[in-house]
Amino acid sequence: MILVTGGAGFIGANFVLDFLAGSSETVLNLDKLTYAGNLENLVSLKGNAHHIFVQGDIGDRELVSKLLAEHRPRAVINFAAESHVDRSISAPGEFIQTNIVGTFNLLESVRAYWGALDTEAKSAFRFLHVSTDEVYGSLDKDAPAFTETHRYEPNSPYSASKAASDHLVRAYYHTYGLPVLTTNCSNNYGPYHFPEKLIPLCIHNALAGKPLPIYGDGQQIRDWLFVKDHCSAIRRVLADGRLGEVYNVGGWNEKANLDVVHTLCAILDDLSPRADGASYTTQITFVTDRPGHDRRYAIDAGKLEAELGWKPAETFESGIRKTVQWYLDNQAWVGNVTSGAYREWLGQQYGA
Ligand code: NAD
Ligand code: TYD
Repeated sequence: MILVTGGAGFIGANFVLDFLAGSSETVLNLDKLTYAGNLENLVSLKGNAHHIFVQGDIGDRELVSKLLAEHRPRAVINFAAESHVDRSISAPGEFIQTNIVGTFNLLESVRAYWGALDTEAKSAFRFLHVSTDEVYGSLDKDAPAFTETHRYEPNSPYSASKAASDHLVRAYYHTYGLPVLTTNCSNNYGPYHFPEKLIPLCIHNALAGKPLPIYGDGQQIRDWLFVKDHCSAIRRVLADGRLGEVYNVGGWNEKANLDVVHTLCAILDDLSPRADGASYTTQITFVTDRPGHDRRYAIDAGKLEAELGWKPAETFESGIRKTVQWYLDNQAWVGNVTSGAYREWLGQQYGA
């Protein structure tokens, strides 16, 4: 069995669903169920004996040690994190607590468990840490994409806390020999994405007749990857990644934010036109920029491709269309996650 942390969040839930669709191995899913964790993402697994859900914190050493001793996983995949840059700007404390202290405590529990395994289980064990391209900081317009050896230059409390967790994971390999793997992925999009992030927020706001908020001039560049391609990359790295190595994951899809939102509007104009016949682009609204806003991210995924033969299955055009269709088909899911706490966040972040 494998232990997945944060498996009720956006990427974690997609990973658990995809993993169980292609394997008979059991997934033990440990998630604190913060505002971003949602058991509705996993509703299709109801009654599936290969999915065991436990609500809890990666930083709870007693709980994690007990789970490891009881279930004896062959791998831990750490998705659990606070993940939204804007929230890290307005309230960084939780990011330090989960992403740094939580990862440290998880590593300590795993180190004790791993140290007591027999030789065979010990060498087969893996700790895979899921991280982000944001740890590398911001790229100039014409600079080459981030490789795994790019200097760490995090600029937000979110990326700084992820950078710290990456360093801890690295240190546990070099100091204790813990068999770790790290993946640094670009921006994901797809089903079950919480509508505080750009793509699901704009789909949700468009359909609700609300403004589509573009920070600054909208020319910031992100490198977009369909979430299921991220999941397949993690499975490849888990299976055959070299111990202690870092693998960048990305889909070679650099897009300016404004272009992404124009694409979303065009797909919505086609699939779900406004009653008045106007384009959703009329809802685009430029708002005050995010402080310390990184201008450009771009991932060079050449190492993952050359060493492990991984390639994304979706282009941006195919993935974004599937995503918009998923949101149109799952308005009940959106309705349930856009609850009171969500509305409070929107009020705080974007004003009335
Ligand atoms: P998310 O915010 O949607 O989900 C995070 C999940 O972790 C939630 O289910 C939450 O309940 C859980 N969680 C939070 N704190 C916890 C704790 N202390 N103990 C246990 N569970 C806890 O995030 P996501 O977008 O799915 O990202 C998952 C991972 O992938 C994160 O580590 C993130 O840094 C990384 N990542 C995300 C992206 C992206 O574009 N979303 C890109 C690259 C890397
Ligand atoms: P986001 O989805 O928050 O991901 P990240 O900050 O991790 O890249 O934001 C993606 C880009 O979209 C980023 O450049 C910020 C921008 N953005 C907006 O312009 N408006 C918004 O309302 C949000 C949430 C993001």
